[in-house]
Formats: sequence, structure tokens, C-alpha cells
Amino acid sequence: MDFDRLVDRTGTASLKWSFYGQDVLPLWVADMDFAVAPPVVEAAQAFAEHGVYGYARVPESLLQAIRGFLLSRYGWRVDPDWLVFLPGVVPALNLVCRAYSGPDQAVMTVTPVYPPFLEAPLFQDRRLQAVPAVLEDGRWRLPLEEMEAAVTPQTRVFLYCHPHNPLGRAWEREEVAAVVDFCHRHDLVLCSDEIHCDLLLDPVEHVPAALTSEAAGRITVTLMSPSKAFNLPGLNFAFAIIADLDLRRRFSREARGLFSLPGCFSVAAAEAAYREGEPGWRSSSSTCAATATWWRPSWAAIYPASP
Ligand SMILES: Cc1ncc(COP(=O)(O)O)c(C=O)c1O
Repeated sequence: MDFDRLVDRTGTASLKWSFYGQDVLPLWVADMDFAVAPPVVEAAQAFAEHGVYGYARVPESLLQAIRGFLLSRYGWRVDPDWLVFLPGVVPALNLVCRAYSGPDQAVMTVTPVYPPFLEAPLFQDRRLQAVPAVLEDGRWRLPLEEMEAAVTPQTRVFLYCHPHNPLGRAWEREEVAAVVDFCHRHDLVLCSDEIHCDLLLDPVEHVPAALTSEAAGRITVTLMSPSKAFNLPGLNFAFAIIADLDLRRRFSREARGLFSLPGCFSVAAAEAAYREGEPGWRSSSSTCAATATWWRPSWAAIYPASP
């Protein structure tokens, strides 16, 4: 990785660099200005040279690359059937609200948080229960008591940002276990957005929520993507890990007809990232600047035709 080379992104249709004028630093977009790692560029180049850009399907080799990565990095033995491929994590946050709660029901999250956590329940006509995080001795913590006070039988889903954008907290094992316990006791589906988990600055180890207990595996929908750590967000490739068959069916049923298959470039790049990304990139990826951000223009400003 070359973190010193300045890449000129003008004229590349970059959302980050074309939304405002040149004098605005667009820190609300979490993509980085480093060129991606050579194995990923080579995989994309090889595919470009092939010259036929047809529909793709996730090949066995990519499944194995993802499974190998999750096993070596987190000790997580993931069954291929548990993986549901998606064009992004944000669509999945919306899908989770639709799949696991009804129109009169509520979705809880902890604020401040990446705006789509707040938008997803509202876009899907669910009630939002936003519980403010607690700042204690200069460190943010989960508002567990306040969550207990706010939860009702109508609450069906907890949207968990793990690690948390923008609090910058990589939640520790006990904290993750407390969230799982909260969701388990209140019969909530735990949607754990772990998109930033491969990009930690501190020595803290990421603990996937689904791995904290046997119950966690049954109630958790984990969302992951190579887009943050490997800087591939423009390739629109993400996946959910859902071990429980019933939860997986409900999620997939809600997605029917809405999402296209992963694109052929994203399949090639994701495989290179996951195959080559461990263990060699561990130290270099941890030196990347975290790009966590929570303010951004409204959805309607980014997508002017939306209501
Ligand atoms: C916590 C979190 N989830 C999801 C996303 C975006 O995910 P995607 O681009 O896959 O929709 C971001 C982007 O910054 C994020 O910070």
C-alpha cells in the first residue's frame, strides 16, 4: 500500500469530491483517497481486459475467500448458506426494519449515529426509538439503563453500530454481550452493522456480536462489506451473515425483486481483497485514517428525486 501518493480524483464522478466546490472538505463521505491495494487493482484490471462484463454470480472461490477471512480474523466459522449478498449495508438496514418489524412497531438505536440508522425506520414507516449514548469520564458508553427504560413490547429490532460511527468506540466483549443479552431478553432482532470492523485504530479486538453466545447466533443479522477497510465503497458489494434459517428467510423474502446480483467487477475485487487481505494487510490497514463521520446532506439532497 502506498499511503503517500496523492491521487487526483477530479473527473472521476466521485460523490465526495463533486458534491460541493473545491474549497469544502467533504468529510461526511467515508471513502479514502488512497489507491486500493495492488492485488485488488490487478484483479479489476484483469477483469477489465477480459472485455465482457456480463451478469455475475458469487463464485465458490469468493465464498471461500470470505469464509477464510472471517475464520482467520475473527475465528468465525461461517456456513456458506448463511451469507446473503447485497449491494450495500444501507439497503440492508432498511430491509431489516421491514423484515422484522410491522408498521406499528419500533426500531431502537443509540445516538449519535450514522444517519441511515435514523432514516431506515422512518423510510420504512416504523417508529424510531433513539436512545442517546452516555459520555462518562471522557469515554462513550452504551446507555443500557436508558435502553431498558425505553424498550416496549412494540420494539422489535435493535440497530447496533459496531464499531460505532461516529462515537469511535470499538465495543468490547462485555459491552457486546450486554447488547446481545438486552436483545435476547426483549425478543429483539439484533442487526449488527460491522462494516468498520476490519479498520480499527486501537489495539481493541473486534468481537462479532453473533459470536458472543449461542443465543447471539440465533438473533443476530450481521452486516459486513470490504468497502471500508479495503476502500471499495463504489463497487457496491456487501453481505449479511444470518445463521438462523427463519431470520434468513424473512430477510431474503423482503429483498425479493429489489436487489440486483453483485456486479462482475465487485466480485473480482472483493475476492482479491478477502483472499490477499489477511494477514499481510493487517498492519497497513490499521494505519489508515478512520473516516467515521455522522453529518451528511439529507437523502433528498443526494438523490434529488426522492420525497
Ligand atoms: C456504520 C456505517 N454503515 C454503513 C455505511 C455505508 O454502507 P454502504 O455503502 O455499504 O451502504 C457506512 C458508511 O460510512 C457506515 O459508516
